[in-house]
Amino acid sequence: MSLIEHAPAHIRAIAPYQPGKPISELAREMGLDESDIIKLASNENPLGASPRALAAIENVLMEVARYPDGNGYDLKTALSERMGVTREQIVLGNGSNDVLEMAARAFLAPGVSAVYSQYAFAVYPIAVQATGARGIEVPARDWGHDLPAMLKAIEPDTRLVFIANPNNPTGTLASPAEMTEFLAAVPENVAVVLDEAYYEYLSADLRGDSLALLAAHPNLIVTRTFSKAYGLAGLRVGYALCAPDVAGLLNRVRQPFNVSNLAQAAAVAAMEDIPFMEECLAINAAGMIQLTDGLQGLGVEFIPSHGNFVCCRVGDAAAVNRALLERGVIVRPVAGYGMPEHLRVSIGMEKENTLFLKALAEVLGK
Ligand SMILES: Cc1ncc(COP(=O)(O)O)c(C=O)c1O
Repeated sequence: MSLIEHAPAHIRAIAPYQPGKPISELAREMGLDESDIIKLASNENPLGASPRALAAIENVLMEVARYPDGNGYDLKTALSERMGVTREQIVLGNGSNDVLEMAARAFLAPGVSAVYSQYAFAVYPIAVQATGARGIEVPARDWGHDLPAMLKAIEPDTRLVFIANPNNPTGTLASPAEMTEFLAAVPENVAVVLDEAYYEYLSADLRGDSLALLAAHPNLIVTRTFSKAYGLAGLRVGYALCAPDVAGLLNRVRQPFNVSNLAQAAAVAAMEDIPFMEECLAINAAGMIQLTDGLQGLGVEFIPSHGNFVCCRVGDAAAVNRALLERGVIVRPVAGYGMPEHLRVSIGMEKENTLFLKALAEVLGK
C-alpha cells in the first residue's frame, strides 16, 4: 500500500474546500493589473477593518515574538461583558471555522453521525468527514434549512447538528420562532451548533435571542466571527458561546495558542468601534438593495439573502464566471454545493457593485 493509501478512507474521500480566488492569482492568470480587479467572492467587509482595530494591531506588533495569551483573557472579558455570559462559556477560535472543527472533533468519531442541511456551509461535511463520522444531509426547503425534517433526521447515533443562520451560500434564515421550536424538540444529548457568522447583518426583528436559548439549552453552541461585519477575516478570529462544561470539552481539542496576539487585540478594539460597525451595516444594506435591484433589472433570479452576499441564478454559472473573470470580476461559483446555475456575489462598495452589474449585463448580453 502506498503512503497515501495508508491514510484513512474517510480522509482520502474529503472533497477539499474551495476558497475564493485571490486578486493576485487572477492578476497573474489574466495579465491584469491588481487595481483593475474587484473581488466579491469571500463575503469580506468591503470597508476593511476599523481604524481602531488597525491601531491596536500596531500597538502589539512588538509582541509578535511572544506567544499570545492562550486563554484570551482580554478578548473573553470584552465578549463576556458584551454578551452577558461568563468567560468560562467562551471558546476562542482561529476564525469561527476553528470552533466548528473543535465541535466536530469533540463530539464525533467513527460510528456516530451528524446532521446538516443540503446547501449548508461547506465546512460542515468536511469537518464531519474528517472525524470518520457519518454525515446526514437533509434536503433543503426553498434553499434553506428544513428544521422539522432535520429534527426527524436525527438518529440514535446522532451527536451533533449544524445550522447556519443565516446560511452561506444561500443567505436563507430560520426565524427566531422556528429556531426556538427546533431546540425545544432536539434531544438534550445531541449538541446543536448554531453558526451565526452573519448575525450582525440581521435587522433587530430577525435577530433571535441566541443567548436566551443558550441559557435554556445546555446542548447549544453558538458560533460567531470577527471575519465578516468586523472586517478581520485575514486575522482569523471567531468564538463559540456555550455551557461551561461544553467549553471545557472544546478546549481539550483546541490548539493551545490558536488565536494570535494581533487578532486578539484587534478583535477587542473592533468591538469598541460601534460607529464603524454601524457604517458597515448601512453600506451592506444599501449595497444589497443596489445589487438585488440591479439583478431584477437584468431579469436575473436571486435567493433573498440575510447576509452580506446574494446568490443569483445565471444559467451556465461556470461559463458566466469565466467571462466575469476575464473582465476582472471575481465572484464565487457554487457548483460544489450542487448549485451549478448560481453564482454567489458578496456585497461590495457602491462602485464595485456597479462594476459587477455592468460586467454581468455584458456577459449575459443584456
Ligand atoms: C456560515 C459560515 N460559518 C463560518 C464561516 C467561517 O468564517 P471564519 O472562519 O472566517 O470565522 C463562514 C465563512 O465564510 C461562513 O460562511
